[in-house]
Amino acid sequence: MSSPVIFPFKSNIDLDRKSNRHLYLQLCDQMIGFIKSGKLAPSTKLPGSRKLSEDLNVHRKTVIAAYDELMSQGWIESIPARGTFVSQDLPIVNPKKLQNNDISNRTSETVGFPFKKRKHLFRKEIETMQAAFKIDDGVPDHRLAPIEDIAKTYRNITKKTHHRALLTYGDIYGNIELRKALVPYLNQTRGLKITIDNVLITRGSQMGIYLASQLLLNNQNVIITGNTNYMTADNTFTEAEGIIKRVSVDKQGMNTNEIEKICKKQIISAIYVTSHHHHPTTVTLSAERRMHLLQLSQQYNFAIIEDDYDYDFHYSNAPILPLASNDTHGNVIYIGGFTKIIAPALRIGYFIAPKEVVDEAARLRRILDRQGDTLLEQTLARMISNGDVQRHSSKVRRIYKTRRDLFCKLLQEKLGDFFDFEIPKGGMAVWVKLKKPYHWDLVITESRKQNLTFINDWKRYDNDNSGHNGFRIGFAKFNEEEIYNVIEILETVMKVLELKAV
Ligand SMILES: Cc1ncc(COP(=O)(O)O)c(C=O)c1O
Repeated sequence: MSSPVIFPFKSNIDLDRKSNRHLYLQLCDQMIGFIKSGKLAPSTKLPGSRKLSEDLNVHRKTVIAAYDELMSQGWIESIPARGTFVSQDLPIVNPKKLQNNDISNRTSETVGFPFKKRKHLFRKEIETMQAAFKIDDGVPDHRLAPIEDIAKTYRNITKKTHHRALLTYGDIYGNIELRKALVPYLNQTRGLKITIDNVLITRGSQMGIYLASQLLLNNQNVIITGNTNYMTADNTFTEAEGIIKRVSVDKQGMNTNEIEKICKKQIISAIYVTSHHHHPTTVTLSAERRMHLLQLSQQYNFAIIEDDYDYDFHYSNAPILPLASNDTHGNVIYIGGFTKIIAPALRIGYFIAPKEVVDEAARLRRILDRQGDTLLEQTLARMISNGDVQRHSSKVRRIYKTRRDLFCKLLQEKLGDFFDFEIPKGGMAVWVKLKKPYHWDLVITESRKQNLTFINDWKRYDNDNSGHNGFRIGFAKFNEEEIYNVIEILETVMKVLELKAV
């Protein structure tokens, strides 16, 4: 080991006392830089902590913390009775080149192997970046998410050493505490009668739809959906190689007599239903049709995939309980989650079904995602048990109701000559039909000129190409001021189109 300390630390180290980064980490960063650049060679003796702290005018503990950190990373080493030195074996990995090939001509488009491309998953790219306002098909206002509560609860959980166990591979059914918390939560709010064996945690409702379709639809099995229907669900069924048959949707929801007719002619495996508010038209499946559908499912042995994505958002009187609450014969796979109540990025949902189905879905989930985000799931479990989620859900329900009322009032007042719509009983969107002679293609093109874009292609709702001219417009994510702005732009757009039509 060489010994003299010749490196001028005092003039070379520059610590920013206003920075958010700890001083000891700044010191580490700079010393690592000197080591990497060769200014501090291996075996160089470093000044003692007292001397360096005096030179840099920092607390001695800062230097000790920096040395500890550098030592734990392997940049420096301590030799008893001799001092601290730059390590002889630096933790610098210099990977060897495979060959001296020139890859400079390769672009991000270069691909050297064939792979399966799925036409049904292709989506038209829609230019949305520059617009001041973006119309979606009904997403929550993520600005309202209780991020502080989530962070606080998460932090409290990670502080407890025994929770470290959550960091390893865990249960493929999802976090046990969350499954336990969901049992009373779903039984009380949705009238279900489940036990923990019926609960699989998923990453949002979409994973539930995917798992259900993979279990039910291989080999060209038939699934019935509404006409029109939630496009991503349709794509998921096509991906599972199911055959989609459609029945009409009217003010009572999906037409169950049409479903019965199909059942009389052929075997069907499943029905996909957004019973609370049909996606996209927002109508509620009537109690009578719910009972009819359940009776058909028992008679013809098919599964009902009940996607209850927005159950928590009902604005008038009490909502009708889900089909799953009346499922006496185990025909319903009930899917829901917290992405709409809290925020889309909080990817936690649930798949509720008879135990045998849950077991199989868990095995399938294992090869896709192994397990969920256990710490976040534990956080949510805590927030359900202490009532935070329920309180937040009531709060946003009230806010969205006010937004729905304002949006629909202005839509009627300012755009009633152009648009037909029913006030939705719940949810986060309005199903709007354009009166003749207008067309969404024109509205969308003109809106872009006015700094408003539609992030979805209107054709996604026209899955049998009937040209029904309906569009689902989300209102929930706009605050009051934004609602006024959006309606004003739409009004300008429609007036321009009106002039053009004359
Ligand atoms: C009808 C319907 N089902 C499921 C989903 C997917 O929800 P998640 O984000 O929980 O996967 C959506 C999302 O918009 C939806 O509209």
